[in-house]
Amino acid sequence: MATELTWLGHGTWSITSGDHKIVLDPFINDNPSAPCKADDVEADFILVSHGHFDHVSDLVYLAKKTGAKVIAIFEIVDWLKNQGVDNAHPLNIGGGVSMPFGRVQMTNAIHSSVLPDGTYAGNPGGFLIQFPEGEVYFACDTALFSDMKLIPKEGLELAVLPIGDNFTMGPDDAARAVQLLEPKRVAPAHYNTWPPIEQDAEAWAKYVKDTTSTEPIVLQPGGTITL
Ligand code: NI
Ligand code: MN
Repeated sequence: MATELTWLGHGTWSITSGDHKIVLDPFINDNPSAPCKADDVEADFILVSHGHFDHVSDLVYLAKKTGAKVIAIFEIVDWLKNQGVDNAHPLNIGGGVSMPFGRVQMTNAIHSSVLPDGTYAGNPGGFLIQFPEGEVYFACDTALFSDMKLIPKEGLELAVLPIGDNFTMGPDDAARAVQLLEPKRVAPAHYNTWPPIEQDAEAWAKYVKDTTSTEPIVLQPGGTITL
């Protein structure tokens, strides 16, 4: 039962691992690069990195429709209760929990976080997930930070890094993140959704290939990586 990770554009991923379906940062219906609509997505778990609209715009809808368990920072779980979503598990930075698909740890992220209605959303985070086939790190929205080198435990099968610049680290810092993380494979995300974050992902991939031993994988929205 392989683990398959499908990029839905921007920072949104749909993951199938064994019998489990996991969605990260549901931003689908208003996502200009999404290959589908929120109604096409199945979930029994939803992971949320932070409160910005381009990570949560379909969160409440999808959580209510699917009944999926939401895994997010404490403050976002609290906000979800007020939206009528009770099936949620709170984490905070550095903490982890074992879920049926594997262990999920919330990692640091250097960014900001507030929910679309102005509610305080705690700190932004990323996720280290231990799937049966190995570790995957979703940096989510962040700047480069040197503690990234502490994140891999067994060695990363895959890192997903933002390369868009402007709101997160750009291609140069994302290449430096690859050097710190030393993943087997790396996939870029959080780019080409809007003009301020347009990037040449193929050029970035070539640079990573030429300067590291990591294999870059550039997906089109809807494309899938198999662990
Ligand atoms: Ni953000
Ligand atoms: Mn974002």
